[in-house]
This record gives sequence, structure tokens and C-alpha cells, in this order.
Amino acid sequence: MKVLVLGREGQLALSLAERAPEYPGLDLIFTSRADADLSSSGSAATAIAEASPDLVINAAAYTAVDKAEEEPALAFRINGEGAGEAAAAARQAGAPIIHISTDYVFDGAAPEPYTEDAEPNPLSVYGRSKLAGEDAVRAANPDHLILRTAWVYSPFGRNFVRTMAAAAQTRDRVDVVADQHGSPTAALDLADAILRIAERRDFSGTTYHLAGSGSASWFDLASEVMANCRRLGLPSAEVQPIAAADWPTRAVRPAYAVLDSGRIHRELGIRLPDWRKSVAATAERLALTNLGLG
Ligand SMILES: NC(=O)c1ccc[n+]([C@@H]2O[C@H](COP(=O)([O-])OP(=O)(O)OC[C@H]3O[C@@H](n4cnc5c(N)ncnc54)[C@H](OP(=O)(O)O)[C@@H]3O)[C@@H](O)[C@H]2O)c1
Repeated sequence: MKVLVLGREGQLALSLAERAPEYPGLDLIFTSRADADLSSSGSAATAIAEASPDLVINAAAYTAVDKAEEEPALAFRINGEGAGEAAAAARQAGAPIIHISTDYVFDGAAPEPYTEDAEPNPLSVYGRSKLAGEDAVRAANPDHLILRTAWVYSPFGRNFVRTMAAAAQTRDRVDVVADQHGSPTAALDLADAILRIAERRDFSGTTYHLAGSGSASWFDLASEVMANCRRLGLPSAEVQPIAAADWPTRAVRPAYAVLDSGRIHRELGIRLPDWRKSVAATAERLALTNLGLG
């Protein structure tokens, strides 16, 4: 089964590439921004038509949450229209699409974890552009699966876990927001789940939440990274809890964007590991590779 993955250099695509050998029934091919540019009308469609895949996974996105506030047109073009065009091209090729979305479609005002039935109400350009992408994918290709995930980290690329581990190399203390909560998700766990789903060809126009089990604040996550750094003999730093109000960012982030991933567990038997377990595994990878720097 030929699977075309958009967004070759991203955390999720690199994780899919790493896990792919464990799924011999899937033949993954990857396109980068140069081959399939979601900001340019027709580019991804041409790449998808040429590849003629059995499944498309859209792991490409405009993910710079703060910068999106200054580039809303580009964020909407890539995350909204671009995602829709990829879904339409997949349909044209007779292929379903797995599309990745985000917890940031919610406003974070809920008192409990968000289920798929909760009403989206994004607070940021990024969140609104990703919500537009969901709508565009649903409209363009009935054979889709939308997976909303959250707080993605990995041994690769730019992410909070790597940033914290790197900061500990040069600083004794880091200030980290303690009043925003979410669902930390290891990209390698997410990749495994996506490939398991891909193997089953189980697409029925569904939206699922799929994030690491449990919930954490950024402070909890940073503290866990530092605890693992200490355990592994890496430099670690003291983590100081601060309020989001004391760490102003261009984009407003939800205070409580915890995802309830119960439905995909009940319906497809898929559950990601507890976030602490996966932070430990990622820290071990980082320790082996000198924090991914070499
Ligand atoms: N990271 C998170 O915390 C998080 C949380 C919730 C949901 N998600 C979603 O999860 C998915 C995967 O995220 P990730 O963390 O793997 O993101 P990432 O590491 O930032 O990777 C995104 C990829 O998209 C590519 N891209 C950007 N603009 C593009 C364009 N115009 N055309 C084609 N490709 C383009 C980037 O290419 P370049 O390398 O050339 O820039 C990069 O390879 C995304 O849909 C994201 O919205 C992420």
C-alpha cells in the first residue's frame, strides 16, 4: 500500500519515517515543501496525482503559533486551503487522507478534557487556520480521518522538550508557565498509532482526539524533562513556575486544552502511552545523541 506523506522535514513525518520499517505492508514516500508546497495552489495536487498513492497523510502545516498572528494569510493558505486541496487531490486519486489537527481549535475554557463533541472556538490565527483546514478536508474528501493532537515533541526538530533540555546546558533556572494545561504527545507514539490505523484502511470521515495519556502544565512537562536529565546525567536546571500573564506571547493560548482521547481507544483500540513514560523515552534518545545536536 503506497502512502504519500506531506511535510517530510517535520517532527511527525520524521517519526513516521523512523517507525515505517515496523509496518512492512506500508510503502511510505515523502514530499517536502519543495515538492508539494501547500502555500502554492496546485503544487501538492500535482505531487499527489503523480504519486498516485493509496493513502495521503498530511503531516505538513504552518506550525509557528506566534508568527501566524503576523502572517494570517499564509497560515490560512497552508493550513486551510492547502489542506483542502491536498484532500481533494487525494480524492481525485481515489485515496483517503489522514489529516492532523490541533487542540488549539478549542478556547481552553472547559472544566474537563475536550471530547470530539465539544464546540471549537480557537483563540489564535493558528487555531482558526487549523479549524479551517478541518472544514476544508471534510468538504473535499469524504474518505478522511482527522486526528487532533497536542503539544507534540520528539527527538527531532523544534519542540518544548528539546528546548528545555538544551536550556539546561547553559542555564541554572528556567521560568515556565504553570497555568496552561494540555496533553503532551510524543511524535513517535503518534506515528505508531497513525501507521496502525493506516494498515487497517479504517477511514470513515471521522474526527478523533489522539494525544498522550494524562495531562500536564508546561511547568509539569519542563519539570519532568529536568528530572529525566538528572536521571541520565545530563545538565538540568531548576524550573520556576510562572503565570501565563507573566510570559506574554503574540498568540493567545488556551488555558486548558486537555484532549479526551477516549473515543479512539473505545472504537479503534488505540491509546497513546502516559506522557511521563514517553518523555522518559525521548530524554533517553536525546541523551544518546547529545541532545540531538550530534
Ligand atoms: N507541534 C505541535 O505541538 C502540534 C500540536 C498540535 C497539532 N500539531 C499538528 O501536527 C502536525 C505535525 O506537526 P509537527 O510538529 O510535525 O510540525 P513541524 O515539525 O513544524 O513540521 C511541519 C512541516 O510542515 C512543512 N511545511 C510548512 N509549510 C509548508 C508548505 N507551505 N508546504 C509544504 N510543507 C510545509 C514544514 O516544512 P519546512 O521544514 O520546510 O518548514 C515541516 O516539514 C501539524 O498538522 C500540526 O499542526 C502539532
